[in-house]
Amino acid sequence: MNNEKYILIDKLAETNELSREEWMILLDGAGEDEELLKYAASKARAVADQVYGKEVFIRGIVEFSNICNKNCYYCGLRAGNSKLTRYRLTEEDILACCEDGYKYGFRTFVLQSGEDPYYTDDVICDLVRRLKKDYPECAVTLSIGEKSYEQYKAYREAGADRYLLRHETANEEHYGKLHPENMSWSNRMRCLKDLKSLGYQTGCGVMIGSPEQTVECLVDDMMFMQEFKPEMIGLGPFLPHSDTPFRDKDKGSYEMTLFLISLCRLMLPNALIPATTALGTIRPNGREQGILAGANVIMPNLSPLTVRDKYMLYDNKICTGDTSNECRGCIERRMESIGYKVAITRGDYKMCNGVRPHCT
Ligand code: 5AD
Ligand code: SF4
Ligand code: FES
Repeated sequence: MNNEKYILIDKLAETNELSREEWMILLDGAGEDEELLKYAASKARAVADQVYGKEVFIRGIVEFSNICNKNCYYCGLRAGNSKLTRYRLTEEDILACCEDGYKYGFRTFVLQSGEDPYYTDDVICDLVRRLKKDYPECAVTLSIGEKSYEQYKAYREAGADRYLLRHETANEEHYGKLHPENMSWSNRMRCLKDLKSLGYQTGCGVMIGSPEQTVECLVDDMMFMQEFKPEMIGLGPFLPHSDTPFRDKDKGSYEMTLFLISLCRLMLPNALIPATTALGTIRPNGREQGILAGANVIMPNLSPLTVRDKYMLYDNKICTGDTSNECRGCIERRMESIGYKVAITRGDYKMCNGVRPHCT
């Protein structure tokens, strides 16, 4: 029993923030303390229930291109992976996936790809406009990487509502260990600030247990998010991919991932936090446990079956042999098994109602 850590969890729940020193104490060695993790999860789940009830939001992801001109050391889509069969979906393919998705009850479409210059800004804007016109009650989320302010502005003006861009690590030195020299931490941060300033619901996030991640790195992540106040937070364990430089690195900790989900919920009660596919890959019931630890979003795949096994960020990704319809049913059952219901709604970020201590 580590009293100090319990007290800090209570403090976080009450004030929604901790100091750097307090984060350090709370995170250091926390993964091994099963009772502490349970304590954090039950508090975090109570907060999520308070804000979002027993509803879980779903987002349909269309992974429209696995071509990427970046070389992140951890990712199977990296340009340097010559073993991967590459694909691009046409605009019509993408719209057809969303049409299916709409029938299955998705009211948010996430368009995700590697950093593929083939899709010009005109193409992206056209896609967003068409989706917003055909499905006016749906949200469109983009997850297409680092762009300029002007580009983000153009997508926003075309109607994009949300943008996902994980910061990967808030520690600049650590960023340098995960990415080649032509990628910069400061540009990543610039992107996130631009997205927020343009009025996107903005998502950042990290891989838990990425190579060379230290407790200090996680403290930096929490301090960054405490200040940045992302509307969405993506957290999943790092999982090695056999055709990347990190093929022999250890995978991240399942327990620590759940713990960080809980702490993010306590820090940012209204955040949209997915129980990620990586969490479902590291443990068969990982996504259910993610929801029970405080997550409130699930992001099943809407990509055509023919390309699913080619969007491999890490080895053994789940759902590569399942159709959109199968995943949709699967998620419904999984959520019902833990007492939650899939909501047929956009599932926007709930603005703060001003009752919490540090509401802005
Ligand atoms: N393991 C876990 N997550 C990964 N991502 C990329 N590669 C991996 C991996 N090997 C995550 C990154 C990226 C998101 C799209 O997927 O955080 O931002
Ligand atoms: Fe490309 Fe994104 Fe993978 Fe990096 S994480 S290699 S930018 S798809
Ligand atoms: Fe895809 Fe379960 S969510 S098969």
